[in-house]
Amino acid sequence: MANILKEQINSADQLKTLLGDFKRKERPPLSNYIPDPVKHTKYVEKGIASAYKFDTGVFVSFDLGHMLDIIYMSKSKESLMECLEAIRDEEQKPVVVEHVYREGRDELLGIPNKVLRRMSRVGEFEKPMPPRFAVQATDEALPMLLDIFGQYFDPYTERIPDASELKRLIDMDGICVIKEKEDIIGMVVFEKSVGNLHLRYWWVSPSHRNNGIGADLLKAYFNAGYDCKRQFLWVFSDNTNAIEKYKHYGFEFDGTADEIYVMKLKKIKL
Ligand SMILES: CC(C)(COP(=O)(O)OP(=O)(O)OC[C@H]1O[C@@H](n2cnc3c(N)ncnc32)[C@H](O)[C@@H]1OP(=O)(O)O)[C@@H](O)C(=O)NCCC(=O)NCCS
Repeated sequence: MANILKEQINSADQLKTLLGDFKRKERPPLSNYIPDPVKHTKYVEKGIASAYKFDTGVFVSFDLGHMLDIIYMSKSKESLMECLEAIRDEEQKPVVVEHVYREGRDELLGIPNKVLRRMSRVGEFEKPMPPRFAVQATDEALPMLLDIFGQYFDPYTERIPDASELKRLIDMDGICVIKEKEDIIGMVVFEKSVGNLHLRYWWVSPSHRNNGIGADLLKAYFNAGYDCKRQFLWVFSDNTNAIEKYKHYGFEFDGTADEIYVMKLKKIKL
């Protein structure tokens, strides 16, 4: 692998131009680039966005501390994997790559570590019964929420929100919790945009599962967006427990999925 050309990205426009130029000139068949101005601007402003240029592809990495989250445009699958390994080895950090595809129609990049499948409910919905126990989270819940994400979620594949992201969601009334005494024993996190209600996280503490806590949290979610025509979520393909429950509420696989590759550092043999 030739020397890696790396440069800091200082503005969201620079990021867009870099990828746009490569796309126009090289017409790379493989890319996972989906413009996301809010997220990309935040990362650029934090100073954690870098570009890597190779003959066969261009890459943008966001250094999240424990891993690099990667956007790529590449001329082939083989060179894509080689370049990702080169970036990982250069930066000495695990590299995580996601690629959204249509099930049964698009070819996969390889054998992913995890697959997320999208489930949706589409239609007109009646206002459901309000929850009995779930309440809107306030800023006070932040440390406990961060603790739960740190303890129960996978840092490579579950896009754990940081404190500023959680604060943004709380400010949008997008987090509801159920407490037992002072402890949070369940949470639901969602985001509403025009006509869409995205269920981002649904979690109940292991000792309280299968007791209706999750159902009460989902009532809060359905109440927040019964006027949305599309309600959707991403679930790991092997999470049969959650999938059965989502089906119970009328969610169906809609044919879109997301392959996730986690390229960890090689262990050095002593
Ligand atoms: C998924 C999770 C939040 C569910 O919480 P829970 O408290 O165990 O769920 P509940 O007991 O309230 O059950 C929810 C609903 O599913 C129904 N249900 C339970 N078992 C079911 C089954 N095998 N098939 C279909 N429906 C089922 C319940 O009857 C209830 O429906 P209701 O509103 O009609 O009563 C919990 O298992 C969890 O935290 N899992 C780990 C995190 C996770 O996987 N989250 C989802 C990621 S996308």
